[in-house]
Amino acid sequence: MKYVVFGSGGFAKEVIGYIESDVHEILCVVSTQPFNCESYNNKYKILNKLEVGMFPDAEFIMAVGDINIKKILVEQNENRWGNFIHSSCHVSNHAKLGVGITMCPFSAILGDSIVGDFVTFNVYSCVTHDNVIGNFITFSPYCGTMGYCTIDDDCFFGTAAYCIPKVKLGKGIKVSAGSVVRHSYMDQCVLLGNPAKPRS
Ligand SMILES: CC(C)(COP(=O)(O)OP(=O)(O)OC[C@H]1O[C@@H](n2cnc3c(N)ncnc32)[C@H](O)[C@@H]1OP(=O)(O)O)[C@@H](O)C(=O)NCCC(=O)NCCS
Repeated sequence: MKYVVFGSGGFAKEVIGYIESDVHEILCVVSTQPFNCESYNNKYKILNKLEVGMFPDAEFIMAVGDINIKKILVEQNENRWGNFIHSSCHVSNHAKLGVGITMCPFSAILGDSIVGDFVTFNVYSCVTHDNVIGNFITFSPYCGTMGYCTIDDDCFFGTAAYCIPKVKLGKGIKVSAGSVVRHSYMDQCVLLGNPAKPRS
């Protein structure tokens, strides 16, 4: 595959490593800033912005974890977003996936779960069976949602944060690293601890 990669931060460096290990071609990186590492800057062409129609045979890959920046990039660019799913991932044949999804090594989408657009799965994150996952959600490393969870748009899961089965989360909720969500919450908040509670 031929890709245009969006982002030049720490997560982009990781995603580029995964794309390289699966032997795909990166035609260009789009970012307003260079990498903080010469080895990436020397290897890849970096463009501030992409004009319509550039690199017509390439798919766009989202290599940004920040939810607000993902939204800006989607607004500013043509809709040629593809999904990058590393070869080590498992995606069930029965799952339904949107576009702009990035799946880092050993992440998984199981059963007949539904995953929306621009969802980011960092390493070892997992959405198990019967989940409904909205748009623009970011899963950090080693986190996930167990069966029958429903997660609304723009939620963020910190490293090793989990939802036990049947949890529902409303739009824009942040789950702090290491938290275990055992009840449903619908109002925007930061959930912290085990059992996770809204931070005051
Ligand atoms: C959810 C989150 C983003 C909220 O961030 P925030 O609103 O900026 O909150 P802060 O980081 O400023 O923390 C506020 C307070 O909560 C505490 N806190 C934050 N996350 C915590 C956690 N997971 N466990 C325990 N305490 C935590 C902080 O120590 C701080 O306490 P203090 O006021 O006594 O110093 C953040 O808590 C978090 O979990 N980030 C995870 C990041 C991550 O895993 N990234 C992966 C990148 S690969």
